[in-house]
Amino acid sequence: MTAKIGIYFGSSTGCTERIASLLKAEIEATGAATCEVMVISVANAKTFSNYDFLMFGGSTWNIGELQDDWAIALPTLTSAGLKGKKVALFGCGDQFGYSNSFVDAIGIIGERVTQLGAQTVGWIVPDSSYQYEFSRAAFEGVMMGLPIDEDNQAPLTPQRIVNWVHWVLEEFGLQPVAA
Ligand SMILES: Cc1cc2nc3c(=O)[nH]c(=O)nc-3n(C[C@H](O)[C@H](O)[C@H](O)COP(=O)(O)O)c2cc1C
Repeated sequence: MTAKIGIYFGSSTGCTERIASLLKAEIEATGAATCEVMVISVANAKTFSNYDFLMFGGSTWNIGELQDDWAIALPTLTSAGLKGKKVALFGCGDQFGYSNSFVDAIGIIGERVTQLGAQTVGWIVPDSSYQYEFSRAAFEGVMMGLPIDEDNQAPLTPQRIVNWVHWVLEEFGLQPVAA
Protein backbone atom coordinates (compact mmCIF):
# COMPACT_ATOMS: atom_id res chain seq x y z
CA MET A 1 0.00 0.00 0.00
CA THR A 2 1.27 3.48 -0.85
CA ALA A 3 2.42 5.51 2.13
CA LYS A 4 0.50 8.63 3.05
CA ILE A 5 2.21 11.86 4.03
CA GLY A 6 0.42 14.77 5.69
CA ILE A 7 2.01 18.12 4.81
CA TYR A 8 0.91 20.85 7.23
CA PHE A 9 1.88 24.47 6.72
CA GLY A 10 1.45 27.93 8.22
CA SER A 11 1.99 30.80 5.80
CA SER A 12 1.12 34.51 5.87
CA THR A 13 2.05 35.65 2.36
CA GLY A 14 1.86 32.31 0.57
CA CYS A 15 5.53 31.37 0.42
CA THR A 16 5.48 28.32 2.69
CA GLU A 17 2.14 27.29 1.22
CA ARG A 18 3.69 27.24 -2.25
CA ILE A 19 6.67 25.24 -1.00
CA ALA A 20 4.26 22.71 0.54
CA SER A 21 2.63 22.24 -2.87
CA LEU A 22 6.01 21.87 -4.58
CA LEU A 23 7.02 19.23 -2.03
CA LYS A 24 3.81 17.30 -2.68
CA ALA A 25 4.42 17.42 -6.46
CA GLU A 26 8.04 16.32 -6.10
CA ILE A 27 7.20 13.45 -3.75
CA GLU A 28 4.26 12.20 -5.78
CA ALA A 29 6.36 12.30 -8.97
CA THR A 30 8.55 9.62 -7.39
CA GLY A 31 5.56 7.35 -6.82
CA ALA A 32 6.83 6.70 -3.29
CA ALA A 33 3.87 8.22 -1.44
CA THR A 34 0.73 10.27 -1.76
CA CYS A 35 0.50 13.62 0.04
CA GLU A 36 -2.21 15.82 1.40
CA VAL A 37 -1.43 19.48 1.96
CA MET A 38 -3.34 21.48 4.58
CA VAL A 39 -2.99 24.49 6.78
CA ILE A 40 -1.93 23.78 10.35
CA SER A 41 -4.90 24.60 12.49
CA VAL A 42 -6.15 23.23 15.78
CA ALA A 43 -8.72 21.17 13.87
CA ASN A 44 -6.27 19.79 11.32
CA ALA A 45 -3.78 18.88 14.04
CA LYS A 46 -6.24 16.22 15.14
CA THR A 47 -5.68 14.42 11.83
CA PHE A 48 -1.97 13.53 12.29
CA SER A 49 -2.78 9.90 12.97
CA ASN A 50 -4.27 9.55 9.46
CA TYR A 51 -0.74 9.69 8.02
CA ASP A 52 2.30 7.43 8.02
CA PHE A 53 4.64 10.42 7.97
CA LEU A 54 4.32 14.13 8.58
CA MET A 55 5.89 17.27 7.17
CA PHE A 56 5.56 20.58 9.03
CA GLY A 57 6.32 23.89 7.33
CA GLY A 58 6.26 27.31 8.92
CA SER A 59 7.68 30.73 8.14
CA THR A 60 9.31 33.04 10.68
CA TRP A 61 7.92 36.48 11.49
CA ASN A 62 8.58 39.42 13.82
CA ILE A 63 12.22 38.51 14.35
CA GLY A 64 12.32 34.91 15.41
CA GLU A 65 8.63 34.24 16.01
CA LEU A 66 6.22 31.67 14.68
CA GLN A 67 3.85 32.51 11.84
CA ASP A 68 0.30 33.11 13.15
CA ASP A 69 -1.28 29.71 12.32
CA TRP A 70 1.58 27.90 14.05
CA ALA A 71 1.53 30.32 16.98
CA ILE A 72 -2.04 29.21 17.66
CA ALA A 73 -1.70 25.52 16.86
CA LEU A 74 1.69 24.62 18.35
CA PRO A 75 0.74 25.12 22.04
CA THR A 76 -2.30 22.87 21.55
CA LEU A 77 -0.33 19.90 20.17
CA THR A 78 -0.10 16.80 22.32
CA SER A 79 1.80 13.59 21.84
CA ALA A 80 -1.33 11.99 20.34
CA GLY A 81 -0.57 11.37 16.71
CA LEU A 82 3.03 12.54 17.15
CA LYS A 83 4.67 10.05 19.49
CA GLY A 84 7.04 7.87 17.48
CA LYS A 85 6.15 9.62 14.23
CA LYS A 86 8.76 10.79 11.75
CA VAL A 87 8.32 14.50 11.03
CA ALA A 88 10.27 16.45 8.39
CA LEU A 89 10.46 20.22 8.85
CA PHE A 90 10.72 23.05 6.36
CA GLY A 91 10.16 26.77 6.32
CA CYS A 92 10.61 30.07 4.53
CA GLY A 93 12.68 32.97 5.79
CA ASP A 94 14.86 35.89 4.77
CA GLN A 95 18.52 35.25 5.55
CA PHE A 96 19.71 38.76 4.69
CA GLY A 97 16.90 40.80 6.25
CA TYR A 98 16.81 38.61 9.38
CA SER A 99 20.27 37.08 9.46
CA ASN A 100 20.21 36.37 13.20
CA SER A 101 16.82 34.66 13.27
CA PHE A 102 16.79 32.91 9.91
CA VAL A 103 14.00 30.29 9.77
CA ASP A 104 13.86 30.19 13.56
CA ALA A 105 10.35 28.74 13.29
CA ILE A 106 11.81 25.45 12.05
CA GLY A 107 13.71 25.23 15.33
CA ILE A 108 10.75 26.26 17.49
CA ILE A 109 8.43 23.71 15.88
CA GLY A 110 11.13 21.04 15.90
CA GLU A 111 11.94 21.49 19.58
CA ARG A 112 8.29 21.16 20.55
CA VAL A 113 7.44 18.12 18.45
CA THR A 114 10.59 16.42 19.71
CA GLN A 115 9.42 17.03 23.30
CA LEU A 116 6.12 15.43 22.29
CA GLY A 117 7.87 12.27 21.15
CA ALA A 118 8.21 12.80 17.40
CA GLN A 119 11.43 12.04 15.54
CA THR A 120 12.56 14.89 13.32
CA VAL A 121 14.14 13.83 10.02
CA GLY A 122 15.47 15.72 7.01
CA TRP A 123 18.30 17.46 8.85
CA ILE A 124 20.82 18.96 6.44
CA VAL A 125 24.21 20.61 6.46
CA PRO A 126 23.52 23.86 4.62
CA ASP A 127 25.78 24.39 1.60
CA SER A 128 27.71 27.62 1.03
CA SER A 129 24.79 29.26 -0.78
CA TYR A 130 23.29 30.00 2.63
CA GLN A 131 24.77 33.05 4.36
CA TYR A 132 22.76 33.60 7.55
CA GLU A 133 24.50 34.40 10.84
CA PHE A 134 22.33 32.51 13.31
CA SER A 135 19.31 30.24 13.29
CA ARG A 136 17.47 28.59 16.15
CA ALA A 137 17.01 25.69 13.75
CA ALA A 138 20.76 25.04 13.49
CA PHE A 139 22.74 22.85 15.84
CA GLU A 140 26.50 22.77 15.39
CA GLY A 141 25.98 23.80 11.80
CA VAL A 142 23.28 21.24 11.02
CA MET A 143 19.80 22.50 10.15
CA MET A 144 16.82 20.73 11.60
CA GLY A 145 14.98 20.89 8.28
CA LEU A 146 14.87 22.59 4.90
CA PRO A 147 15.37 26.38 4.91
CA ILE A 148 13.92 28.14 1.87
CA ASP A 149 14.65 31.78 1.07
CA GLU A 150 12.31 32.94 -1.67
CA ASP A 151 12.96 36.58 -0.73
CA ASN A 152 16.58 36.40 -1.90
CA GLN A 153 17.32 33.06 -3.54
CA ALA A 154 14.20 31.91 -5.36
CA PRO A 155 16.18 30.41 -8.29
CA LEU A 156 17.81 27.99 -5.84
CA THR A 157 14.50 26.67 -4.51
CA PRO A 158 13.71 23.95 -7.09
CA GLN A 159 17.05 22.16 -6.65
CA ARG A 160 16.92 22.53 -2.86
CA ILE A 161 13.54 20.83 -2.92
CA VAL A 162 14.69 18.00 -5.19
CA ASN A 163 17.74 17.29 -3.02
CA TRP A 164 15.83 17.44 0.25
CA VAL A 165 12.91 15.29 -0.92
CA HIS A 166 15.37 12.61 -1.99
CA TRP A 167 16.95 12.67 1.49
CA VAL A 168 13.64 12.76 3.40
CA LEU A 169 12.16 9.84 1.46
CA GLU A 170 15.24 7.84 2.31
CA GLU A 171 14.81 8.69 6.00
CA PHE A 172 11.13 7.81 5.80
CA GLY A 173 12.25 4.46 4.37
CA LEU A 174 10.33 5.01 1.14
CA GLN A 175 11.56 3.91 -2.28
CA PRO A 176 10.81 5.69 -5.55
CA VAL A 177 8.61 3.49 -7.74
CA ALA A 178 9.89 2.93 -11.27
CA ALA A 179 7.45 4.24 -13.88
C1 LIG B 1 8.22 42.01 9.76
C2 LIG B 1 8.89 40.76 9.22
C3 LIG B 1 9.63 39.97 10.09
C4 LIG B 1 10.30 38.83 9.62
N1 LIG B 1 11.09 38.09 10.49
C5 LIG B 1 11.82 37.07 9.98
C6 LIG B 1 12.73 36.37 10.82
O1 LIG B 1 12.90 36.64 12.00
N2 LIG B 1 13.43 35.33 10.27
C7 LIG B 1 13.31 34.98 8.95
O2 LIG B 1 13.99 34.06 8.51
N3 LIG B 1 12.45 35.64 8.13
C8 LIG B 1 11.71 36.68 8.60
N4 LIG B 1 10.85 37.35 7.79
C9 LIG B 1 10.74 36.94 6.36
C10 LIG B 1 9.57 35.99 6.08
O3 LIG B 1 9.64 34.83 6.89
C11 LIG B 1 9.62 35.58 4.61
O4 LIG B 1 9.24 36.69 3.81
C12 LIG B 1 8.81 34.35 4.26
O5 LIG B 1 9.03 34.03 2.90
C13 LIG B 1 7.32 34.50 4.52
O6 LIG B 1 6.71 33.25 4.31
P1 LIG B 1 5.12 33.01 4.32
O7 LIG B 1 4.55 33.78 3.17
O8 LIG B 1 4.97 31.56 4.15
O9 LIG B 1 4.60 33.50 5.63
C14 LIG B 1 10.18 38.49 8.24
C15 LIG B 1 9.41 39.30 7.39
C16 LIG B 1 8.79 40.43 7.85
C17 LIG B 1 8.03 41.28 6.89
